[in-house]
Amino acid sequence: MERLHKVIADSGLCSRRKAEKLMLEGKVTVDGEVVKTLGTKVSKNAEILVEGKPLPTVEYEYYVLYKPEGFVSTTSDEKGRKTVIDLVHTSSRIYPVGRLDYDTSGVLLLTNDGAFNQEMIHPKHKIEKEYQVTVEGLLRKETSLKLSRGIHIDGKKTARSRIRNVEYNTQKMTTRCHLIITEGRYHQVKKMFEQVGHPVTKLKRIRFGIITLDGMKKGEVRHLKPHELKQLHALTLK
Ligand code: URA
Repeated sequence: MERLHKVIADSGLCSRRKAEKLMLEGKVTVDGEVVKTLGTKVSKNAEILVEGKPLPTVEYEYYVLYKPEGFVSTTSDEKGRKTVIDLVHTSSRIYPVGRLDYDTSGVLLLTNDGAFNQEMIHPKHKIEKEYQVTVEGLLRKETSLKLSRGIHIDGKKTARSRIRNVEYNTQKMTTRCHLIITEGRYHQVKKMFEQVGHPVTKLKRIRFGIITLDGMKKGEVRHLKPHELKQLHALTLK
């Protein structure tokens, strides 16, 4: 189920705001009924007509971007900063699947398929996100264990996670490791390490589900391959 105004906008017909306006004006029907209530959700198979005409059929597009630092993961930015959308050459209304911070690099999926987007970010599917993290200080075994068992951030305990490939730099007094999480809470990785006294100095997402940065350069974008799409979808059926 998806919100009607979003389904209309995702078809490329108009913006979400315009879609809401059309709904309020009584110009949208779902399975023959006029729907004016904003926020109404519709199923995939619903017959949606706008001013009596069906929505344009959307060609879905799926991309993976090696996001560089210095880009926001939104479709527009009120501060006028560059966005990840600027890096993908398409006229479709695509958006990122989840977010990476302005100063975080790595794997970012983008699509115009709203259902796929929801599937990928829903916490119940527990899709693994692997980050290469550099933190201040030398991370002790007990601290890694504490992090992986779950700690409280923003009043809620994090789900189990895994830490591997721990490397110490005793000259700089920093640690580099991989953290694998299955949630996607706001600033989750930074907050987790901050909470145990190891501020993050560098963050890169090296894997989203089965998608890695293999063979990609920073800033590069490519289409997802059909088998990758299939495998990503399969992760949600487990
Ligand atoms: N966790 C963070 O803190 N930042 C990101 O960009 C991604 C995960």
